[in-house]
Amino acid sequence: MDYRNGRGQDTSSVGPPQRPPSSFVEQANVTDEGIYEAFEENWPACWERAAALLEWDEAYDDVLDEEDAPFYEWFTGGKLNASYNCLDRHLEAGRKNHAAIIWEGKRGESQTYTYRELFVKVNEFAAALRDLGVEEDDVVTIYLPMIPELPIAMLACARIGAPHSVVFAGLSADALATRMDAADSEYLVTCDGYYRRGDAFNQLSKADNALLSLEQDVSTVVVDRLGEDLPHVLGDRQYDYHDLVAEHAGETVDPVSRGSEDMLFLMYTSGTTGKPKGVVHTTGGYLSYAAWTTRAVLDVEPNDTHWCSADIGWITGHTYIVYGPLALGTTTVMYEGTPDYPDRDRLWEIVDRNAVDVFYTAPTAVQAFMKWGEQYPNQHDLSSLRLLGTVGEPISPRPWRWYYEHIGDEECPIVDTWWQTETGGITVTTLPGIKSMKPGAAGPPLPGIDARVVDDDGESVSPGESGYLTLHRPWPGMARTLYDGDEQFVEEYWRQFSTPDDDEWVYFSGDAARIDDDDYITILGRVDDVINVAGHRLSTMEIESAILGVSGVAEAAVVGGNGGSSGTDVYAYVSTENGAEPGPSLAAAVTASIESAIGPIARPEEVVFTSELPKTRSGKIMRRLLEDIASDEELGDTSALRNPEIVGEIQAATRDE
Ligand code: WT7
Repeated sequence: MDYRNGRGQDTSSVGPPQRPPSSFVEQANVTDEGIYEAFEENWPACWERAAALLEWDEAYDDVLDEEDAPFYEWFTGGKLNASYNCLDRHLEAGRKNHAAIIWEGKRGESQTYTYRELFVKVNEFAAALRDLGVEEDDVVTIYLPMIPELPIAMLACARIGAPHSVVFAGLSADALATRMDAADSEYLVTCDGYYRRGDAFNQLSKADNALLSLEQDVSTVVVDRLGEDLPHVLGDRQYDYHDLVAEHAGETVDPVSRGSEDMLFLMYTSGTTGKPKGVVHTTGGYLSYAAWTTRAVLDVEPNDTHWCSADIGWITGHTYIVYGPLALGTTTVMYEGTPDYPDRDRLWEIVDRNAVDVFYTAPTAVQAFMKWGEQYPNQHDLSSLRLLGTVGEPISPRPWRWYYEHIGDEECPIVDTWWQTETGGITVTTLPGIKSMKPGAAGPPLPGIDARVVDDDGESVSPGESGYLTLHRPWPGMARTLYDGDEQFVEEYWRQFSTPDDDEWVYFSGDAARIDDDDYITILGRVDDVINVAGHRLSTMEIESAILGVSGVAEAAVVGGNGGSSGTDVYAYVSTENGAEPGPSLAAAVTASIESAIGPIARPEEVVFTSELPKTRSGKIMRRLLEDIASDEELGDTSALRNPEIVGEIQAATRDE
């Protein structure tokens, strides 16, 4: 582990502080500066205000139970149902005809679901799932693209107390199989296929392939998304979604009252090992935290139209498309397509037509908008926007300014939000109605969050220095454990900096960061074997093991680099076995193997062949050096290398491509 390894951006370039526009501040949800101190003085009871955003079937006894730290419990003894909180209570509050989801399809079609309509759909599918045999605590895997059945299925699971495990639709059959196997999941909700760049793309065949390798029997529900464009035949234990819900038309299902600490969902993410980790989120703490941060940070109000442009297949979409906005009773936009189809003004056309209030996206997207030019946003009226956000990667001051000027018209604050699958919701950012923004720095920890930047000994570093980003206090949205992996949970996150003997538990994020005099934190990137590509976490080991499966490959090292573009890309360095021919066909086989193990998101920017990988005298591959080469940066110290002569060859081969 080496925090100097952290990559992302030039940290000397954090911009000067800037006050949020006063027009925003005047109406913000949270404006009382005293909130930071109030949380300090009253911790952990301060978190009651998050829980108070929900309706509980039974009040909780304790805000926080630290007895089994780091297996913390929140709002223990309380009971609630997430789907009730996202649906029923809004009907009761007279908002039945208020729009819950505005779905914007890939082909220009669009569909609005009011809270009542969503309630009906969720209930019908919940009844169908029950009928299929799904019981409380059965894990239901959902492998769907951005179509309305995805949040409907999630809420239907939540209604009957069955944890969902959503697998991003772009992941491969192997990746789906690994996740279903790890979760012992016997239910799958998928679709026949979906449109990708105008073509019909077969999803069911991927799902079928995944099922072939599973030991358990699986019942599959298939949404017919493509109709005539992709005829399909249902096999054994496969059911058509529309037939199932038609059988249960008009039925309602009582929401199952879940314990606060009962699992709401599982979300697999990449860790340092080759095996994906099943991050467990619970009902009371997660939902409270999702609602609280949506309200306090994204400034969402019930009458807003909120648009988070992430995919629901990742945590960002879970928290800020589905659970946060719906818990607050707001209107959430769900977009199936890409930003540049049919044209590069597509997103702004959607903002304009729906009068979107809050827009939350990834820095890579902002970089792309900036590259395309302001003529695209300028074609539309974006004056409905009130707040902008970014998530997933650092945003440099230049795209930050561009976003501020050309999308926000200098009227919208930008929140640069740092968090992770494991934190459940935003943990480090500015409260937009209170704090100044510093372009390039995410901001200070949120009230109640004790984020620090520490050195190898766990001591806070001085302002301006880099170190490891750690969280020194629990928070309601935190992951409770890894599915089937309590020990691994402690190992991955709590071993590095905790001193259990003194009862001090410290959560390690895996990120390098720097902190300034005002406690503003700038994220420098991952320090472990995880690469963050456009906000998607990929494990280098997982990619390497896919490469090693290709015949002719002797050794492989995968690193993240930003040589070619503004963001981080995957670079694969491969040495071949004697007799194997390095060249385009082997490179294609390497790429194909990665795509089949993980999916197209892990596709390498470059596959570089070399006769040997750079190694230390003890035989360790020197990844840091490969990262420097991939990023076209000056090379660090190479004196520890056993084979320094190889460096020039690798550099030449990387640049050659
Ligand atoms: C990793 C978490 C939940 C966010 C979406 C990705 C990086 C996240 C920022 C930010 C710089 C960021 C970190 C983190 N990251 N937000 N505002 N600035 N880096 O969730 O897949 O769990 O990835 O994304 O490296 O550890 P994830």
